[in-house]
Amino acid sequence: MSYPTPGAVRELYSTDAIARRVAELGQRITKDYAGRSPVLVSILKGSFVFAADLTRAIALPIRVEFLGVRSYDRGTESSGAVQITQDLTHSIEGEDVLVVEDIVDTGLTISYIVNLLRARGATSVRVVSLLDKPVRRRVPVEVDYVGFNVGDAFVVGYGLDCGEEYRNLPGLAELVPKS
Ligand code: PRP
Repeated sequence: MSYPTPGAVRELYSTDAIARRVAELGQRITKDYAGRSPVLVSILKGSFVFAADLTRAIALPIRVEFLGVRSYDRGTESSGAVQITQDLTHSIEGEDVLVVEDIVDTGLTISYIVNLLRARGATSVRVVSLLDKPVRRRVPVEVDYVGFNVGDAFVVGYGLDCGEEYRNLPGLAELVPKS
């Protein structure tokens, strides 16, 4: 937590706390998918750091795919439709898919993604999200594995950004408004 202006961020979860939680998630996923070979779909950009650590905490023969998305009309009464900015490189038809998100907020993005992957013929679709913000939910979505529940804080670091900054902050921090 060294490079932001002092006072600009307040640490929520240290790198050690994140590592412990990611290891626990990896163990649970390994157990739940025993005997199967899930395809992990990392949603860009925010989940890239989490996905890199989570994949290495799963002791199964997995495949990794990336899906780039951009939300339409964020902050307004949107339809929840998202634009695919980078598509998968292999078909997920007949596969057990585990979507890897950094955060589920309104739920609009993950809801769209889950429906998309089901429509493309995935055998099963589950969701793992590092962070869950249930107070902000606008559509009901099932998040099968959650790292940490957070309130309405603006969280940055460990892949999460504010205007594309802070993604490389090693821990998770709350952005503190300038006074
Ligand atoms: C974030 C996050 C989710 C989405 C969650 O992405 O990665 O995809 O918002 O919000 P929702 O539940 O309200 O739909 P963002 O648009 O910040 O893009 P990024 O991942 O490229 O940072």
